[in-house]
Amino acid sequence: MASVTIKNLKKKYGKSEAVDNLNLEIRDGEFFVLLGPSGCGKTTTLLCVAGLINPDDGEILLGDEIVTSREKRLFLRPQERDVAMVFQDYAIYPHLTVFRNISFPLEVRGVDKEIIEKKVKEVSESLGIGELLSRKPAQLSGGQRQRVALARAIVREPKVFLMDEPLSNLDAKLRVAARAELKKLHERIKTTIIYVTHDQVEAMSIGDRIAILNQGHLEQVGTPREVYENPANIFVASFIGSPPMNFFPGILKREEGIFSVDLGFSKIPLPKKIESSIQKKGISLPLEVTAGIRPEHVEVVKDGQGLIRGKIDVIELVGKEFIVHLDLSGWSLVSVTSATLELSPGEDVGVFLDPERMHLFESNSGKTLLQS
Ligand SMILES: Nc1ncnc2c1ncn2[C@@H]1O[C@H](COP(=O)(O)OP(=O)(O)O)[C@@H](O)[C@H]1O
Ligand SMILES: [Mg+2]
Repeated sequence: MASVTIKNLKKKYGKSEAVDNLNLEIRDGEFFVLLGPSGCGKTTTLLCVAGLINPDDGEILLGDEIVTSREKRLFLRPQERDVAMVFQDYAIYPHLTVFRNISFPLEVRGVDKEIIEKKVKEVSESLGIGELLSRKPAQLSGGQRQRVALARAIVREPKVFLMDEPLSNLDAKLRVAARAELKKLHERIKTTIIYVTHDQVEAMSIGDRIAILNQGHLEQVGTPREVYENPANIFVASFIGSPPMNFFPGILKREEGIFSVDLGFSKIPLPKKIESSIQKKGISLPLEVTAGIRPEHVEVVKDGQGLIRGKIDVIELVGKEFIVHLDLSGWSLVSVTSATLELSPGEDVGVFLDPERMHLFESNSGKTLLQS
């Protein structure tokens, strides 16, 4: 087991920065997720840690050991780093049995036959593929093949696992099950995992902490809860959560000591906590802001005298909840609400935007105003 430290990592392809000065400290034993849209630099980062790419600049440490350093002209080859990588297109050998697919990395290292037998048995049983050892990959389902790839990585007992969208070839149902299994496995073996995905739901459900990347740079690192409740900027706020957060342009004001955000269709008084944030940041008001509110913090109230008026456009029923698309005098707004309400398209309703749950971002920088 080992921590992974990434310092000022840079990798360019031509003129474009695939990874732009990335800094991360991944703790020993952590299930750490790299999350971001396609092309944001996740795979490149992982390949740098694996030693399959030599970056243009920066340093990488596994535990206390420097494995990459441009400055010190140091670069350990992949086989000299104690990491195991599981790719999206998990390369398992079609002509080898499941047993030999799993035992291969140990054979290469010249491990004793008996020890190999024992380890392959242990690992394959823990992944529920103990019965399949004599089969060839063609005789396996996608999920089983994926486990063979995982077993092969685990059997090596590396210090760190690097996983690049390892579940993305599975169908939705299997993916959810495989995700839960992986999480359980991690709880048992406690080896550091760096897990790459573009799927925010997956990241939120599996990660101890998540790093959100965008165009090669780091937007935020935190626990799933932290990045969900306190997104550092508009990018993170809009990337995480489904349906996504609603955004409105507004003006942040202070009138007679009371802070409010004027959204045009409504002026919403803000809770006291905004005051200290604004003082700390030395912001002068009025200020152009982007207000954000998650669909689950938008309440639809039948009749709802005195509330903001909205008209229901479309209602989707998802399990026990409605996703209600509303029209607020030209602005669209999405609410997630209990399906116990009797709502119908075209209906006029009251809408309550919970000020305690309102996010405020500086429009120019996109950064949150609610954190120091
Ligand atoms: N071998 C390569 N040659 C040129 N550009 C590349 C290469 N690999 C990746 N890129 C570019 O670098 C950026 C980051 O890619 P990648 O790390 O694969 O992103 P992700 O895994 O997040 O989808 C993308 O713009 C991609 O097109
Ligand atoms: Mg990738």
